[in-house]
Amino acid sequence: MRRPLLAGNWKMNKTPTEARVWFAEFLEANPGYAGGAQTAVEVAILPSFPLLPIAAEQLAGSSVRYGGQDVSAHDWGAYTGEVAAAQLADLGSTYVIVGHSERREYWSESSELVAAKAAKAMENGLVPILCVGEKLEVREAGRAVAFTLEQLEASLTGINLATGEELVVAYEPVWAIGTGKTASAADAEEMAAAIRGFIRSRYGEEVASNIRILYGGSMKPTNTAEIMAGENVDGGLVGGASLKVDSFSQMIASV
Ligand code: PGA
Repeated sequence: MRRPLLAGNWKMNKTPTEARVWFAEFLEANPGYAGGAQTAVEVAILPSFPLLPIAAEQLAGSSVRYGGQDVSAHDWGAYTGEVAAAQLADLGSTYVIVGHSERREYWSESSELVAAKAAKAMENGLVPILCVGEKLEVREAGRAVAFTLEQLEASLTGINLATGEELVVAYEPVWAIGTGKTASAADAEEMAAAIRGFIRSRYGEEVASNIRILYGGSMKPTNTAEIMAGENVDGGLVGGASLKVDSFSQMIASV
């Protein structure tokens, strides 16, 4: 049985002060998460790097997980502006997003670089949330599944999941991110099933049945339950709707 995961991708939003308020209000509104006991729905927050020490402090003792939105493929050294996996791990991070479409698009990240980042994250005990997904013209050309699986395969170059390391895959159709347009529940399930099938063919049944596959792209309280009803959709990577305690809490409650 895969435990549902709702991960909030805050992107480049919130001051440390605002983050502090959000964490306090979230734990007040969702007291089941405050005590550290396992909850039915796992929750993680992925804030900008300067907010991670605040997350570490405010979420200590709770069952809310956190982590970064990106990570360097390098260990340490002269890489100005980069953040090392070991730094994220030392701050108590559980997860790190790799290959978000905004990074692929605006920073020209290749799938090979994304794979190197995922590998570095895993080496340091972090669970990568590996994002894949097609642009609108690819979907309109009927190539959404083929494209996304090719991107996933390239983004897993050199990665061996048969050794027990954990990985989460997030299917995020680029045309649905921040646009208010959502994939239909059927399209999300079709893609999640295809992703699981690919994982099965590459890593075997045990890995495939345990790996969690998220949907992302304009998820909100009113569509969460429907999208997550798909047998292969195990949760969501939530951007805009995770910025407010209210909407994110409603999404958790609706699962
Ligand atoms: P959105 O973003 O929920 O605001 O569409 C999702 C994401 O980019 O992870």
